[in-house]
Amino acid sequence: MITHDANQAIGVFDSGLGGISVVRALINLLPQEHLIYFGDTARVPYGSKSEETVIRFSHQISSFLLEKNVKMIVVACNTASSVALESLQKHFNIPIVGVIDPGSRAAVKYAPHKRIGVIGTASTIRSGAYRSAIHDLDATIDVIDQSCPLLVPLVEEDWPHDQVVMSVLSYYLDRFAGNRPDSLILGCTHYPYLKSAIQEVIGADVRLVDSGEETAVEVKKLLEDLDLVNPDEGDPGKHMFYVSDFPQKFEETASRFLGRPLDNLFKVELEVLESYK
Ligand code: DGL
Repeated sequence: MITHDANQAIGVFDSGLGGISVVRALINLLPQEHLIYFGDTARVPYGSKSEETVIRFSHQISSFLLEKNVKMIVVACNTASSVALESLQKHFNIPIVGVIDPGSRAAVKYAPHKRIGVIGTASTIRSGAYRSAIHDLDATIDVIDQSCPLLVPLVEEDWPHDQVVMSVLSYYLDRFAGNRPDSLILGCTHYPYLKSAIQEVIGADVRLVDSGEETAVEVKKLLEDLDLVNPDEGDPGKHMFYVSDFPQKFEETASRFLGRPLDNLFKVELEVLESYK
């Protein structure tokens, strides 16, 4: 493994905007860390694409981030974590963390009756990644999963939590009506933005697990173990954002999600991205 310096940035990538939920969790937990975020806004959504395509895109973005000299990569996208993480970890000589294992570990902790629900994109659910990560931890757990393809566009459109959102959620979460889980994994970058509505529909007794928040905890632990925590000298970390399509829409929504303007936002041409292997 190549050696890295603690003051290098952490690379984070997602298919687009949703990974800002993971950035938010990282900033809350590790305010002194520098972050370089890549949102593949030209090629979102990943959740309806084939495994080969998502793996190819994930390799290109990881190569781009490595060229920016990051010390670690966080795959914020659940779909990319589900289908591409193993291939990335084999190929790149750098610590790479996905969101599936941290989310699964937290859900298992909160499952006294051994029932866990998982919601995610079609690709994430089809991959069975959460199911097998949970079963690796405890093979006796009953995993009930449900893909919710309409939720990403509702969040992207910033749709208010009105009757449209509530009835879409009721439709999907009905899957859990006869078999109530102890915990429900929000297995998609966008779902934390619907947390209160999801909690209202599923009921207060089901513990919601935000994979992004759990991943931030894992990143902190890994940085400590590898002696790569950026020393806190009172200065907040610098955050750079790169996108593959026009930045205006990203800037508008991401700054709302983060609660502050994005100072360093750049566009990367798709041809440049596609030149990476
Ligand atoms: N970022 C994706 C995920 O977490 C959701 C959006 C997409 O389909 O690309 O699965």
